[in-house]
Amino acid sequence: MNKTDRYQELYKQIESVVSGETDQIANMANVAALLHEAFGFWWTGFYIVRDNQLVLGPFQGPVACTRIGFGKGVCGTSWERKETIVVPDVHEFPGHIACSSLSQSEIVVPMFRNDEVYAVLDIDSKDLSTFDEIDKDWLERIVTLL
Ligand code: SME
Repeated sequence: MNKTDRYQELYKQIESVVSGETDQIANMANVAALLHEAFGFWWTGFYIVRDNQLVLGPFQGPVACTRIGFGKGVCGTSWERKETIVVPDVHEFPGHIACSSLSQSEIVVPMFRNDEVYAVLDIDSKDLSTFDEIDKDWLERIVTLL
């Protein structure tokens, strides 16, 4: 199955899982698990805006940094710019926060409520250049289901 087909299937699965539950933390937990398992990513999870910081939310993968400031790292930069950031090589991203030294590439997708970022979806890969426009498009669509 190619990436688009896999995302298409996953989108439907996530839609059905999320539609039966109103608690956002519970839904984030299942979305992290579904994405993580489907693609075998290294780290898949959410950071949630609390008291003007990003605080670690539901995730799958190794232990991670708990708090990230506005404009800091890839996550804080995505929050500040209000846009998805695709990083083909994290070592080339100024200010990248290395929660795991094994991460090589990353994508961060901001999530909006009333035009404000309320959380970000962060995915790390152990390979370089894992994420492209297909991931960006589908992940941006998937986070609107939450
Ligand atoms: N690399 C992220 C930090 C979070 S971890 O990857 C889970 C960043 O630079 O914001």
